[in-house]
Amino acid sequence: MNHNVLFEPVRLGGVELPNRVLMAPLTRQRAASDGTPTELIAKHYEQRASAGLIIAEMTVVSPFGRAYLNAPGMYQDSHREGWRRVTEAVHRAGGRIFSQLAHAGRISHPSLLPRNATPMAPSAVRPAGHVYTSSGKQPYVTPHALEVGEIAGVVAEFAAAARMAKDAGFDGVELHAANGYLIDQFLRDGANQRTDAYGGSAEKRARFLREVVQAVVSVWGAGHVGVRMSPFNPFNDMSDSNPRESFAVFAGALSAFGLAYLHVIEPAGQSEGRLTPRMRELFGGPVIGNGGFDTKAAAAAIGSGEAEAIAFGVPFLANPDLPARLAGNLPLNTPDSSTFYGGGARGYIDYPAYSQIV
Ligand SMILES: Cc1cc2nc3c(=O)[nH]c(=O)nc-3n(C[C@H](O)[C@H](O)[C@H](O)COP(=O)(O)O)c2cc1C
Repeated sequence: MNHNVLFEPVRLGGVELPNRVLMAPLTRQRAASDGTPTELIAKHYEQRASAGLIIAEMTVVSPFGRAYLNAPGMYQDSHREGWRRVTEAVHRAGGRIFSQLAHAGRISHPSLLPRNATPMAPSAVRPAGHVYTSSGKQPYVTPHALEVGEIAGVVAEFAAAARMAKDAGFDGVELHAANGYLIDQFLRDGANQRTDAYGGSAEKRARFLREVVQAVVSVWGAGHVGVRMSPFNPFNDMSDSNPRESFAVFAGALSAFGLAYLHVIEPAGQSEGRLTPRMRELFGGPVIGNGGFDTKAAAAAIGSGEAEAIAFGVPFLANPDLPARLAGNLPLNTPDSSTFYGGGARGYIDYPAYSQIV
């Protein structure tokens, strides 16, 4: 398969992209302690502006939705101002950038939340595992099961954050419905044990997602809103009794909105029985693939019609000029996992472009 297909322009909803090598959202925990993006973050994304599209890291819509220390937010004035410096830097460098809006739900801890609040979730199901707090590693707690009357308030927080992302100069937003955070907690039945209108059948588990999508679309227009899902990812103690059927329903539930894209994490190495093509068919719009793709697998996925574009996570983390590297079959920098989460400039803005090596 000729890899030139990666460098053909593509339209995702209302956004024109010059190539199909996208930057996947990557939490790096370099924001100020109140979630305000810094100049360092602006520099990091500016260096990666040759991506067809940058999908910026998970950004929480509420002080009650925090998951990680020094992860960014989108709910107070300083967040808007910090993100504006980021989007301006990316645009000056010729790039495009979406904000990935999220709420952690149960993947949090009282010490991360205002007034030591109990984290919220669709059901009072405690996830296995630990969270890093300012006083060290702590087990997750049993979350507070959202009452029906509380849900509209959370949806409104997504809408307010979507508005703030627009004011901050983003080109669109991606809703984080993957990897075990609040929206995904509603989607998968390991975490959602509700028996009301928000739980039970896959259609009902999709209700919270549909409400959030509707609210965010009313701010942005559908052509500037994407959704990310991870049907098989067990991260954050997630499970579903029938992911193939459930995620087919979830993809179909989004079809009527006319969204910019559906972003599906499904490991590239898993070649048999792929779910992404079925989700694409039911969704009926552009798809972004992600999960361990290299040039060959990315070109094959686009060539076979599984996806319009591919998001690269770790390869983009370590290679600010990833599209040029893939286009020229150039060697890649080696990622340093010890600097993935937290810290400063090292392992963040000091990965060289190829032109700086030769
Ligand atoms: C350091 C790191 C941080 C990540 N942060 C996020 C995130 O904020 N939001 C998200 O949806 N996925 C996140 N992911 C998952 C990546 O977006 C991506 O799905 C994963 O790395 C697989 O793609 P890759 O093989 O191209 O790296 C993260 C992954 C890594 C390694």
